[in-house]
Amino acid sequence: MDYRIGYGEDAHRLAPDRPLWLGGLRLESPRGALAHSDGDVLLHALADALLAALALGDIGQYFPPSDPRYRDLASAEILAQVLARLRGSQPVEIVNIAATVTLDAPKLGPHRAAIAERTAALLGIDPKRVGLGFKTSEGLAPDHIQARVTVLLRLL
Ligand code: C5P
Ligand code: MG
Repeated sequence: MDYRIGYGEDAHRLAPDRPLWLGGLRLESPRGALAHSDGDVLLHALADALLAALALGDIGQYFPPSDPRYRDLASAEILAQVLARLRGSQPVEIVNIAATVTLDAPKLGPHRAAIAERTAALLGIDPKRVGLGFKTSEGLAPDHIQARVTVLLRLL
C-alpha cells in the first residue's frame, strides 16, 4: 500500500458585486473573491494539494495568471486538467480530502452538503470522502477568504 499526502492553500480579497464560488458552486453573497479567475479558493487549493501529493509543482506553473489563455479559466476546468495530469503521471485513487474554509460571512454551514457533493462530483468520488470545515477569522480578516486542503492519494 503506497500513499501520498498533499496540501494546498489559496486566499483572495473579498470585494462587493463579485460572485462567491466555492467548490464549484456559486453561493448567494453580497461579496465574492476579487480575482481574474472565478476565485474559487477551495478548488484552487484542492488542485494545488493534488499536484503537491505527487510533487508535480503547483497550478501557477501550469496555468500562469499572466497568460491570457488561463486568466478566466473556470476552476472546475483547472481541476479537470490537473486530474488528467495527475493520472497521466501515475494511476491514483483519491482516498479523501479534508478542507477548511475561513470566511467571516456569509455562513457556509447551510451549504456544507451541497459544496461537498459538487466537489466530490468534480473529483469523481463519494461525497463522504469530502470533509469540509468552516471557520471565521474572528474578525481578524473580514475582507479575506481562504481555503486549506489536504488530500490523501493511494498509488495504484
Ligand atoms: O470561527 P468560529 O469557530 O467562531 O466558527 C464557529 C462555527 O461557525 C464553525 O464551526 C462553523 O460551523 C460555522 N461557520 C460557518 N460559516 C462560516 C464560518 C463559520 O458556518 N463562514
Ligand atoms: Mg471559534
